[in-house]
Amino acid sequence: MGYYKPVSGLASALASLVALSLLAGCGKPSDQSGAGAKPEKAAYTIGMSQCNLGEPWRVQMNADLKAAADQQTELKVIFKDAQNDTLKQRSHVEEFISAGVDLIIISPKEAAPLTEPVAKAVAAKIPVIVLDRALLGDQFTCFIGADNVKIGRAAGEWIKQKLGGKGKVVELKGLMTSIPGQDRHNGFRAGIAGSEVEVIFEADMKWLEPDARKEMESALSRFKEIDLVYAHNDPGAHGAYLAAKAAGREKGIMFVGIDALPHEGVAYVKQGILDASFQYPTGGAEAITTALKILKGETVPKKIVLGSRVFDKSNVDAGGKELN
Ligand code: FRU
Repeated sequence: MGYYKPVSGLASALASLVALSLLAGCGKPSDQSGAGAKPEKAAYTIGMSQCNLGEPWRVQMNADLKAAADQQTELKVIFKDAQNDTLKQRSHVEEFISAGVDLIIISPKEAAPLTEPVAKAVAAKIPVIVLDRALLGDQFTCFIGADNVKIGRAAGEWIKQKLGGKGKVVELKGLMTSIPGQDRHNGFRAGIAGSEVEVIFEADMKWLEPDARKEMESALSRFKEIDLVYAHNDPGAHGAYLAAKAAGREKGIMFVGIDALPHEGVAYVKQGILDASFQYPTGGAEAITTALKILKGETVPKKIVLGSRVFDKSNVDAGGKELN
């Protein structure tokens, strides 16, 4: 829990002393039995590495984590922002390991490059909760996230139905080195399989609204007829909408996204900007509940799958409809 790196000789001995006093000051639960004890301090330190804070959904995830952690006097969460830089995020995990945090929560940018540092944390006996974007293999303690294949398939089925089984679609994909991008793509393709819904243009917009807008500009200049845009997140769908609007073509195109934050996707559906948004819950509250269980020695499932809802014109005022 001490935030320093032990060095050699005297410095190392001093560091150990500091570490011990820090640990004592942190008051593990066994230290807290006495009545009238010193003011309560966090018993556990959680290191949280967020992939970026440039997207509203991630700001919401941190807010959800913080709100849940604030309810628990035993928990202290140290938040780090990787600014969408995989190398920075790898360093976060390494820093958390050398600092000796009690648990790590990571919402990783990409699967492959973050798998190894997380495995190292687990090998160093630091439990790791992976939130939202999955890693490869099984060297983590618990994964929490919604089922992106299911969401992609539900989006595909919704689109197939709205287009009457036939139409020209643009697919704006999330970062394809991240698992949600791959799953939302594969699920969607399964959802439209066997129909005459045709993907005429697809591009990786890396989850980013400006990239989505640019890709949509290319799609609009190449294709006179576009019936619908399926974007892997709401910022992507909104970027596509803005491009279509600038070209005066937004009225003839439907826009579908994923995330459904109340102040983003759901609001867009209410305003008639998006035709549908599929909810992707942040899992912030669940991560804190699960972290506490792990820290107290309880066994938790390897995978916690969160539910999702669809919001469209027909149900948005009633709070959307659960996916089944
Ligand atoms: C934010 C985000 C969300 C998306 C999630 C997928 O970075 O792109 O919009 O649902 O990540 O991991």
